[in-house]
This record gives sequence, structure tokens and C-alpha cells, in this order.
Amino acid sequence: MENISAEIADEIVRLREQLFLEPRDTRAMRDLAVLLGAAGDLPGAIDLYQRALRVDPYDAEVLVRLGKLWNWLGDFNRARSWFVRALSVDPDCGDATDGLAELADAGTLTPAYIRTLFDQYADRFDENLTGTLAYRAPQEVAAILARCGIAKGAADILDLGCGTGLSGLALHSFAGRLVGVDLSPMMVAKAALRRIYDDLAVAEAQSYLDQATQDWDVIAAVDMLNYVGDLTPTFKSAATRIRRSGWLVGTVEKRAEGGMALTEKRRYEHGEDHLRQSIKTAGLTVVEISEAVLRQEGGQPVAGLIFAARR
Ligand SMILES: C[S@@+](CC[C@H](N)C(=O)[O-])C[C@H]1O[C@@H](n2cnc3c(N)ncnc32)[C@H](O)[C@@H]1O
Repeated sequence: MENISAEIADEIVRLREQLFLEPRDTRAMRDLAVLLGAAGDLPGAIDLYQRALRVDPYDAEVLVRLGKLWNWLGDFNRARSWFVRALSVDPDCGDATDGLAELADAGTLTPAYIRTLFDQYADRFDENLTGTLAYRAPQEVAAILARCGIAKGAADILDLGCGTGLSGLALHSFAGRLVGVDLSPMMVAKAALRRIYDDLAVAEAQSYLDQATQDWDVIAAVDMLNYVGDLTPTFKSAATRIRRSGWLVGTVEKRAEGGMALTEKRRYEHGEDHLRQSIKTAGLTVVEISEAVLRQEGGQPVAGLIFAARR
């Protein structure tokens, strides 16, 4: 289970004891499931909801909560079947109707989803990424900047999807001026604490680029394009803001079979073909695309492509 306060840990213990004494107390099951879900133990939460349904198979609230959990986990078929079941019990169940409506859009990652995801993650991000996940994308991008001959300390750099600033730490030494932009206010607040950015903004990357009035020598997107589907629109917007002979650099999670797809992890993978084509369509020239491990996940390496393109 993820880090939880002592108060929540106590409440979890209390509810478990309550269920030991009253094994059919569905209220306690639901309350405990909410706490486990919030603490990141989604399987534990799902087990409890299913246990509650064995006591009362017609509890529409539990059916909806299962739908929401599966939607969050990215199993949209399963989510749909729970919402439909809730509506069969209670045809007026607004939460089930809303849940189904949201599913229609579940093939994409919305800015609201990304913002929520990272706002919730901000406090644990640095520790997780640099610890168990052995995050390497920023170092890989710094290495490609060095291979491309970008001088230290002089470039105007925009860090797209800057997060808490782990990418900024790697970009900083190349920068005369470093600006970060990110959808998540909580991530940006963490980035501000590093005091390495000359300016920070909370905004969606492409909108930010489309509204920008200044140009950059380097626009970097480190481990953020895996939340963007088709890369072409973002690359086109970036290309309009890169100075002549300037650079677009970044990482994508590699899709070996090519193209691009939203995976069950709710991140996009991009094939080298899609990456190359998007760079070309944006009017930029590929200088390097190389393979690298971006981080570990579940003990397995996450394969990535590191790229540098020039205007
Ligand atoms: C995995 S983190 C990487 C953060 C940072 N670049 C690093 O290397 O540590 C991805 C970040 O991209 C941001 N992000 C994803 N899609 C975005 C978008 N379309 N516009 C702005 N930020 C975005 C997220 O909010 C998140 O902070």
C-alpha cells in the first residue's frame, strides 16, 4: 500500500476489526474500500466491493463504484458492464449514466485526467521515479543534447511537461534561460521549489505553444509525450516556436510494432515510424533517434526512443 497517514491507517484497522465482528456489514466494506482505493490498493478495494455484492447484489452505489475503478484501471469493457448492471437495478442512477458517458471518451487521455493523475502523484513522484523506478529519461536527454553539440549555459530552453523538475535538473546546465510548463499545478509547485526555472506555467503544452510569443533554442519533452497520442499537432506547434537551427528533443515509450497506441497502462506508446513522420510533417529534420531504457516498471525495463530533431 502507498504512503498513508497514521489516521487513515488506524481507520483501516478499525474497519477491518468491524468486519471481523460483523462480516456482512456492507457499510464497513464500502468505507474500507474507499480508503484502500485512495491508498492505491485497488485490488483490495475491488475485492471488498465484490464481497458487498455477495451480501446485496442490487446495491447500485457499489456497482457504480466498481465501474469507476475499472474505468480508472483502463478496462473499459468491464467498467461498462458494471455501469449497465447498476442501471438495470436503478434506471435513474445518474452516476451510472455519467460513467457510461465518460467511457465513450475513454480511448483518449483528457487533460483533466492527466492533471488529476499527476496532482495526486506529485508528493511521491520524485521518490518513486528516482528510487524503485530507476528513472533515466532526463539523463538520456542530457546525453543527446551533448551529442548534438549544444553548448552549456547558453540556450533558451522550454521544458514541456516539466513535472516536478527532474527533467529541468538535467536541462539546467545547458540553459541560459529555462522555462517549464505543465498541466498539473501540484507538479509545478514542486518544480518551483527547485529554483532552477526562470519561469513556470500551468498549462496544456500545445495550447501554451500556440499562445506563446517567444521562441526557444531547445524545446524538450521528457517523458511527457507518452500522455499525448498523435504527436504531429504538438510537434507542429513546437516547430513554430523553435528558432532557426534550434532543437526539439525528447523521449517516447517505444511501440515495437509501429504506429501509436494507448496501452492498458493508460500511456501512449509510439513507433519509430510515427515519431519520424510527425517530426517530418512538423517541418523538422531528424538528427538522431536512439533506443534507451527510460525506467523500470514492475521489475521490467520500459523501452524508449530518445530523439533530437532540428529546425
Ligand atoms: C512522467 S511526468 C515527467 C515530468 C518531467 N518531464 C520529468 O522528466 O520528470 C509527465 C508530466 O507531463 C505532464 N503532461 C502530460 N501531458 C501534458 C500536456 N499535454 N501538457 C502539459 N503537461 C503535460 C504531466 O502533468 C506530468 O507532470
